Amino acid sequence: MPHHTPRPLDLAPRGALTGRVTVPGDKSISHRALMLSALAVGESRIEGLLEGEDVLATAAAMRAMGARIERGGDAVWRVSGVGVGGLLQPATALEMGNSGTSTRLLMGLVASHPITATFTGDASLSGRPMGRVIEPLALMGADVSASPGGRLPLMVRGICPAVPIAYTLPVASAQVKSAVLLAGLNTPGVTRVIEPIATRDHSERMLRGFGATLTVETADRGRIISLTGEAELKPQSITVPGDPSSAAFWLVAASIVPGSDIVVANVGLNPTRTGLIAALRMMGADIVELDPREVGGEPVADLRVRYAPLTAIEVPHDLAPSMIDEYPVLFVAAAFANGRTLARGAHELRVKESDRIAAMHAALTACGVACEEYEDGMAITGTGGDAIPGGARIASKLDHRIAMSLSVAGLHARAPVTIDDIGPVATSYPAFYRSLDALTTGVEA
Ligand code: S3P
Repeated sequence: MPHHTPRPLDLAPRGALTGRVTVPGDKSISHRALMLSALAVGESRIEGLLEGEDVLATAAAMRAMGARIERGGDAVWRVSGVGVGGLLQPATALEMGNSGTSTRLLMGLVASHPITATFTGDASLSGRPMGRVIEPLALMGADVSASPGGRLPLMVRGICPAVPIAYTLPVASAQVKSAVLLAGLNTPGVTRVIEPIATRDHSERMLRGFGATLTVETADRGRIISLTGEAELKPQSITVPGDPSSAAFWLVAASIVPGSDIVVANVGLNPTRTGLIAALRMMGADIVELDPREVGGEPVADLRVRYAPLTAIEVPHDLAPSMIDEYPVLFVAAAFANGRTLARGAHELRVKESDRIAAMHAALTACGVACEEYEDGMAITGTGGDAIPGGARIASKLDHRIAMSLSVAGLHARAPVTIDDIGPVATSYPAFYRSLDALTTGVEA
């Protein structure tokens, strides 16, 4: 594992955010675009790919299993795939860095190919549960030897042919759903995933876009997704829309810093991802959609966000799957709202890049925000719009979203907030601090 030297950052409070910022490509869609292109026969082009460390880990892994992947000087990525069933045995372990999505989805791909792959990752990823993916892949016939607790490092011995299964997701997880569907690509017959609670549907959309036979029915027990295996994927030209999970930081920043007025361009608005926008609007945020359009089969718009006083809410539990990555920054918005916000029903936050409930509770408490920790969320009493005290050193816990969320909180604090390590931000949003500087000095980012 490469040695990671912490990069601390002192954030002095700044004034209003103004101007326009374009968010980078969607992380979830970028991973899938690389994986499916690498399994198509022929050359695919990908525009707008997120060039963050997590996605680069996926690219490196697909190369190690035989795909040719190149970035042109025009920032267009060209991928020559090996065909479903054609993945090669990687010569060395697949180094997944911080990326849970790379790990879980690639475990699915390896599971139904006649190859063996070892997965390793950083300290954060090595603490995350993989049993949720191992269980269905084992039912399909793959043999997985994991470290104690079903964790990394682990080795997947794929099987060909694998056995098609009908699997009901025990946790609402797009990663588990996608791992099973990707394993189903090289499995004879029909692989089914039943999701009682809908999660992001990028895999379904993109599998169809690449020509796979995939149907979705809505039944009493949930969404039933059926994929016909031994699929032949046709190369595509893909434009990746901007990541709503990256836009989230600017939506909250402009909402809490008085005088702010910004446009966040190129925001993906797939309904399985827009829970934060709904929650912020319930709190009184002023977010207007401009120029709604479709990019790469996904709804996209530019969002104009102006400062607005926020009011505390009880966050509806059913929003959780569509804003699961946005809770840390929602907690920040709540810290500036008038009243006590209750955000519960999000157990999964405990097993993300960090335990996001514990990490945010510790960070906000250190910044002088009144909050209470629950097993499945937090209650936060906001300032009613005033600056928070700040003046604390925050542990980002190898978690990009903790670092960025506290950077947003620090914009409206009475004393500087220090983040102990902003290195992890490069996993999903390498240009974050450049854009922050641009928005707080009114220059285009
Ligand atoms: C992702 C799914 C979510 C999300 C993660 C990306 C994906 O995880 O938190 O950042 O691309 O499928 P879970 O599926 O585990 O909830």
